[in-house]
Amino acid sequence: MFQSFNLNIDVLTPSRLWCVCNPMYDTLDKVRADIADRLAMAASGRKSAMHTPVVITPDADARIMVLREFDTDSSTLRFHTDIRSPKVEVIGAGADMAVLFYDPDAKVQLRCRGRGRIETDTPLADAAWASSTNFARRCYLGAAPGEESDGPSSGLPDWAQGEQPTDEQLVPARANFAVLLITQSEVDWYWLSHEGHRRALIGDKGDRWLTP
Ligand SMILES: Cc1cc2nc3c(=O)[nH]c(=O)nc-3n(C[C@H](O)[C@H](O)[C@H](O)COP(=O)(O)O)c2cc1C
Repeated sequence: MFQSFNLNIDVLTPSRLWCVCNPMYDTLDKVRADIADRLAMAASGRKSAMHTPVVITPDADARIMVLREFDTDSSTLRFHTDIRSPKVEVIGAGADMAVLFYDPDAKVQLRCRGRGRIETDTPLADAAWASSTNFARRCYLGAAPGEESDGPSSGLPDWAQGEQPTDEQLVPARANFAVLLITQSEVDWYWLSHEGHRRALIGDKGDRWLTP
């Protein structure tokens, strides 16, 4: 059962682990804890179904991104992106955004809504860059995302194809790296169950049950 949830038990206390595997969502407290646990697991577990949610911008565009971190205290999701990608211009210093997660094993959907912003030259962006592997940093060495090319191309310079660049070679890539931070204002939580679906809205305007 643990395997089907792809759990990272580092982020769970034993009692929370028990709750995730044996859900009894009968209080809003349990729903709040479930959201926090799932987002923490999504960020830390590369095999978690919620590791790659759909990120939606106000221009009605959507794309898959890797969730890098969930900060429980500020209810903020962190993603990494290329500053030259079209979504960065749409988001800028502030935009209303949504992030959609679904775990088919747990049958839980999370529709997160909040305010997104891009950071490039901040301590947080520096720390995110420092914690990235050189393979991950390599993505920021090449041509801008969405740039037209004469044929199929990774956009990477020839010398970097299939290679892990050195720290020195990666210096110019830092200028293309940005973090996307989305501070959640509400999460629409939905659990599919044979015994009756459950749905709750957890957020700044007060927590409440909704009919599914
Ligand atoms: C599994 C997967 C993971 C991805 N992770 C990221 C990511 O973490 N950051 C990112 O900017 N793009 C990521 N992408 C690419 C985006 O989906 C998207 O194509 C790209 O960011 C350009 O988006 P834009 O044109 O809306 O700016 C990922 C794509 C896939 C399929």
